[in-house]
Amino acid sequence: MKKTIKVFAPASVTNVSCGFDIMGFAIDYPGDELKLTIKEKPGITITKITGDDGRLPLDPKKNTAGVSLISMVDRLKYEKGIDIEIYKKISFGSGLGSSASSAVASVFALNEILEKPFTRKELLSFALEGEKLTCGGSPHADNVSACLMGGFIIVRSIDPLDVVPIDVAADLYSIIIHPHLEISTADTRKILRSNILLADATIQWGNVAGLVAGLMSGDYDLISRSLQDVIIEPIRGILIPGFNDIKNSATNAGALGCSISGSGPSVFAFSKTKPEANNIGKAMKKVLSELDIDSDIYISKINKQGPRIIK
Ligand code: HSE
Repeated sequence: MKKTIKVFAPASVTNVSCGFDIMGFAIDYPGDELKLTIKEKPGITITKITGDDGRLPLDPKKNTAGVSLISMVDRLKYEKGIDIEIYKKISFGSGLGSSASSAVASVFALNEILEKPFTRKELLSFALEGEKLTCGGSPHADNVSACLMGGFIIVRSIDPLDVVPIDVAADLYSIIIHPHLEISTADTRKILRSNILLADATIQWGNVAGLVAGLMSGDYDLISRSLQDVIIEPIRGILIPGFNDIKNSATNAGALGCSISGSGPSVFAFSKTKPEANNIGKAMKKVLSELDIDSDIYISKINKQGPRIIK
């Protein structure tokens, strides 16, 4: 059996406009990396973290990756020790599932090194334990599910956990702009209303169903019509500088639709072709440049693989 393994776990776009907490997909990059080593002496030790500006705790009980591993080791009654090194590549508070990626990387790495005692679906509950640490007591499974399962997923239920992979027939490019600002998911969950109008809920249900049907049938017009969020985006969009202009610039440049990635501040759009994706990225970036806000653009197809072993 191998004693050391290094893995990559991708960033994810969640909510996907109308599907607050229930829809998400993995992207090709960026993604966190994690090295896991088995040792004889029992206990989990986080030996190194890079890319976090010293902000993440080395105490495994306070660290997303550590908590996920502890929950998996407890279930396995695993008696050996584990050292991990975490290489953060996804910015904190970016809306791209940074904490989920570290949580997934840790449980995926241990599962691989132990020759897969669990299926990917079974690993979800362990990664979710880690994710709960960061979301201010209001758990959501969309980022961990998209990251771990790869592809486009629906969280039909969080308790009991029921995650449904969607077979996407549409050939889509996602364009993600990450403004160099930080927004706390826990904070942006607190500002949401806990009651919504039945009329808004009905619009939202129609869009969720339409988006899923459009993705599965490859109906781009239906996808475009369904990328509408009347519940969350009007509240959270206010927190993202230039959000309405970014959205308009993306759709004017040919995007099928555009909305907030997760809890923001990243914003995603979909296009049918790579040249359109490049133009949309440039148009979105121009809006932020005019506001003197630096940003990164990621252009990626939906990443079907999820986490993977790397050298
Ligand atoms: N669904 C979660 C939210 C994702 O919108 O709060 C957080 O990235």
